[in-house]
Amino acid sequence: MQWNGSAENGNDIERLGRNVGEVLGVFAQTQFRASSLLEIPRPARTSARRLHQARLENHLKTLWSPEWPEHIGKIDAAKKEAGRILYQSNCVRCHEIVRHGLQTIQLLKTNGGTSTAASAPPSLKYKAAPLAGIWATAPYLHNGSVPNLYELLHSAQERPKTFLVGSSQFDPGKVGFRTEQALGTTLFDTSKPGNSNAGHDMYGDFSEEERWQLVEYLKSL
Ligand code: HEC
Repeated sequence: MQWNGSAENGNDIERLGRNVGEVLGVFAQTQFRASSLLEIPRPARTSARRLHQARLENHLKTLWSPEWPEHIGKIDAAKKEAGRILYQSNCVRCHEIVRHGLQTIQLLKTNGGTSTAASAPPSLKYKAAPLAGIWATAPYLHNGSVPNLYELLHSAQERPKTFLVGSSQFDPGKVGFRTEQALGTTLFDTSKPGNSNAGHDMYGDFSEEERWQLVEYLKSL
């Protein structure tokens, strides 16, 4: 996905253009062939596999984000509704509402960012990712510096400075993986370069109750 919305990707050709561009940026080779003015321009040769990209693109359209497994803890409807209202006023300006079953590539393009309007101009700002299935992707932030959703809704100072990562035990309460000592866990130290857990903490001064309401809503995305 391109993060500043600068390339159209509403139809198959535009999507292919975006995908080829991405592969070129990473490893594909391209041979541009010069042609004289009177000649019909000769297309460039590229190792980017366009047919495979189209197949991948079509496959992605059939995938949905995983839904919260109710057997590990039922979602509380009243709390979730309160969380939805908080989300509406504090979060949607950057994170678009997730509509299960409607996550087309078109929608992903306009998702997130500092504006969710489909007509928003491209910007050089870092885009917020869609939060579909966010319950399943701890630890949080781009560098995995926040262990669970509950801690993410705190200011950076209040979040854990160190915690253990690598546990396969899920914590359905705070929504993330458990951080106690277990086989294969290692220490994540937020004071190390690249591990900072700062940022994403100005989005509302939530009470404890409101935090849990938001967590309940985030579980449903
Ligand atoms: C000003 C824009 C903005 C607002 C408002 C905002 N976010 Fe975010 N959010 C971001 C950005 C940008 C990131 C990615 C940060 C990163 O990866 O370090 C993010 C990341 C996240 C993540 C972690 C995503 C991941 O994959 O790790 C969650 C969860 C989240 N936001 C929830 C919320 C909630 C809940 C609210 C409202 C209370 C909110 N955000 C308000 C911009 C915003």
